[in-house]
Amino acid sequence: MKTVLSGIRPTGNLHLGNYYGAMVNFLKMQEENKCFFFIADWHSLTTHPDPKMLHVNVRNVLSEYLACGLDPEKATIYIQSDVPEIAELYLLLNMHAYLGELEKTVSFKEKARQNPDNVNAGLLTYPVLMATDILIHNADYVPVGKDQEQHLEMTRNYANRFNYKYGTDYFKQPTAYNFDQELIKIPGLDGSGKMGKSEGNCIYLIDEPKEIEKKVKRALTDNGPEGANTPKPDYIENLFTILKVVSTPDVVAYYDNLWNSGATKWYGNMKKQLAEDIIKVTSPIRERINDIKNDAAYLHKVAKEGAEKARESAGKTLQDVREIMGFKSF
Ligand code: TYM
Repeated sequence: MKTVLSGIRPTGNLHLGNYYGAMVNFLKMQEENKCFFFIADWHSLTTHPDPKMLHVNVRNVLSEYLACGLDPEKATIYIQSDVPEIAELYLLLNMHAYLGELEKTVSFKEKARQNPDNVNAGLLTYPVLMATDILIHNADYVPVGKDQEQHLEMTRNYANRFNYKYGTDYFKQPTAYNFDQELIKIPGLDGSGKMGKSEGNCIYLIDEPKEIEKKVKRALTDNGPEGANTPKPDYIENLFTILKVVSTPDVVAYYDNLWNSGATKWYGNMKKQLAEDIIKVTSPIRERINDIKNDAAYLHKVAKEGAEKARESAGKTLQDVREIMGFKSF
């Protein structure tokens, strides 16, 4: 049985990118593997969130995880800050992380450029905390979107470095995992590369059908192909990328053929179909979210039991690591 670990920062509601990047296939995964799904609330601190919103956002993501069908009886669902063992392993791994490599991380450079007044040490060592999340359960597979590829690569480096330094093969080599061969990047509907909360271009799982229709209708298009078999511009390719994940292959083939034939005036129909198929995916989830969110006793139980299970697994790893590194109790 393999160990699978997936995490999401609680910085808002879950969107289609999160769903297809980090969660898709989890219904099957939780049947066949030892799964950990967690909410990375420490990770969200790098941008100094409003303390009043932190808990609200954690509750949203927890409710949305459950509404998507994660089953606390089968998978361990927990909140990062409920597992103090992670903080200790993070400290230990930080001793093996070099400034040069951290400064070169793409996500660090990007965030430092966006927020030059808040380039904090937590931001710099963000990849070490993420590696800790993964290594604390010695995960085999990590479902992530394309944007997390470099962090996974760094996690393997830290695992290798630790193993090499201490002459052990304790840590496994975790592999990024997605439902296709390639890691996926769900694009924004505004023609931008990535659907993301900070990009403000998301379709949220909680969006009402009308809202989804409106967002899809507004998606950037043009007058149509300029001839038969021309390459698609990025913003049209983006629509096809989303269509591929929510619709059936015959629908994708139908619109692909229209594009390749050079025909025009079919974007409206394609958008209607796209909105309809997105709604098919999100509606059952949306309908469950509010019920779950308002069930404080259930959320308390899930978080408490999840924390206990996660701490048991994390505690075991931490004990092994302490021993390997030479810590001994008197
Ligand atoms: P976060 O919170 O930005 O995103 C959560 C997950 O959703 C994926 N994702 C996407 N996938 C495809 N297309 C998109 N447009 C898209 N937007 C988001 C992300 O790749 C991610 O898998 N550092 C992580 C959280 C984290 C984590 C971990 C993940 C902390 N520790 C350990 C896995 C394992 C993050 O910021 O994800």
